[in-house]
Amino acid sequence: MLGKIFLVVYLIAQVGVSLVTEYVWDNNEPIKKIGRKTRAIRIFIYAILAIIPMLGAYLPRSPFKYWCLGAGNVWFAFFMYYAPAVLIFCLIAVIIAKARKKKRSRLIGFSLFAAFIPALILSVYGLYHAQQIKVTNEQITIEAPNAQELNDMRIVLIADLHLSVNSTPEMTERMVDLVNEQNPDLILVAGDIFTSNYMGLREPDRYSDALSNMHATYGVYAVCGNHDVDENLFGGFSVSPISEAFRTDEMSGFLDRCGFTILDDEALTIADGAVTVVGRLDERKPGDGTSDRLTPEELLSGCDHNTPILVIEHEPVEFDELNAAGTDAVFCGHTHNGQVFPGNILIHLFNEYAYGVEHIDDMDIIVTAGVGYYGPPIRIGTDGEIMVIDVSFE
Ligand SMILES: [Fe+2]
Repeated sequence: MLGKIFLVVYLIAQVGVSLVTEYVWDNNEPIKKIGRKTRAIRIFIYAILAIIPMLGAYLPRSPFKYWCLGAGNVWFAFFMYYAPAVLIFCLIAVIIAKARKKKRSRLIGFSLFAAFIPALILSVYGLYHAQQIKVTNEQITIEAPNAQELNDMRIVLIADLHLSVNSTPEMTERMVDLVNEQNPDLILVAGDIFTSNYMGLREPDRYSDALSNMHATYGVYAVCGNHDVDENLFGGFSVSPISEAFRTDEMSGFLDRCGFTILDDEALTIADGAVTVVGRLDERKPGDGTSDRLTPEELLSGCDHNTPILVIEHEPVEFDELNAAGTDAVFCGHTHNGQVFPGNILIHLFNEYAYGVEHIDDMDIIVTAGVGYYGPPIRIGTDGEIMVIDVSFE
C-alpha cells in the first residue's frame, strides 16, 4: 500500500519537475532555441527516469529487474531532495518576481540551479555516509537469580543489514570485523537481513562467507524482519500484498550458510541454561503469507523466569505485552532511526521508542538504527551502527 502511494507521489513530482524545467527552457531567450532542439532528448530522459523504478518494481525476477531496482534507488537518493527544492524555490521565485513586477523566468531558471547543487551534494554525501559504520556502547542491568554467576555479558546487536541491489560485500566484511573486535559473548541479529529479494544480491557467497565469520562465545541468534521475504518494492516500499510475501528457500539456505540460529517464534537457553534467548516472527510479514505469530504470553509461558529473558523482535512493538509476559530486555531494529532527514525527526512521531535504550517497568528496550539502508542507499542525519550492550546480572 505504502509503495503504491509513493509511486503516485513520485510520478506527480516527476511531472511537476519536468514541467518547470520545460517552462525555463521556453521562457529564457538565450537558451530558447537550444531548448526547442533538445526537447525530444529531455522528454526521453524524463520517461526513462519515470519508467526505470517501475520496471524495478514490476518486472518478473531477472538480472535486468534488479539492475532497474538499484538504479532507481540511486535516482531517488537525488530526486527526493531535488524535487521538493525545485518546487519550493520556483514558488519563491514566482512570488519575488511578482512582488518586484519583473519577468519571472530567469528567477525560476536560477532556482533550478539552486536546487540542483545542494541536492547533488546531499545525495553524494548520503551515499558516502551510508557506507560508514559507527560503534555505539550501552549498558543495562538485569535482575536474574540464575544468571548471577555469569556476572555480565557483552551483547552485540546488529539489524537491518538490508543485503540487496545497493549493498556492498565490502561493507558487510567491515561490519563483521567491527563486530569481532568487540569480543562479544552473544550476537543478536534483529531482522531485515535482506531487502525483499535474494536474486538481487551480487556475490551472495561473499556475503555469507563474511557473515559466517562472526564469532561470539554463545553464538549468533537472529530473527527475520518484514524485508526478509520476496516481494516487489518501489522506493523501498512494498507494492505486493502480504499474502504473496514468502521467505524463499534461497533466503533460508543463505541464513544457514551464515551459521545463524534463526528463532521463528522460538525460545532456547544458552550459557548452560543461565540465559534464555527468544526470537519472534515479524509482526506484519512472518514469511508464510500470513500475519500470524504467537503472542508474547504464548511464547514465554514455557520459559524459566529465573533466567534473564532476552527477546529479539524486529519491529519495536507490543512492549506492554512483552513486559507483562516477563521479558527482561527486548532487542529491536526496523526504524533505521529514520535513515534520511527529515525521517530522523518524523520517525519519533510514529514510534514511541524509535531509537536508543529505554527502561520501562522491569524491561529494557533497545532499538538500534541498524547497519544498512533500504530504498535510497543513503543516510543523512543518522548513522549506520553496531550496538554493543554490556549487561550486568544482579
Ligand atoms: Fe529495515
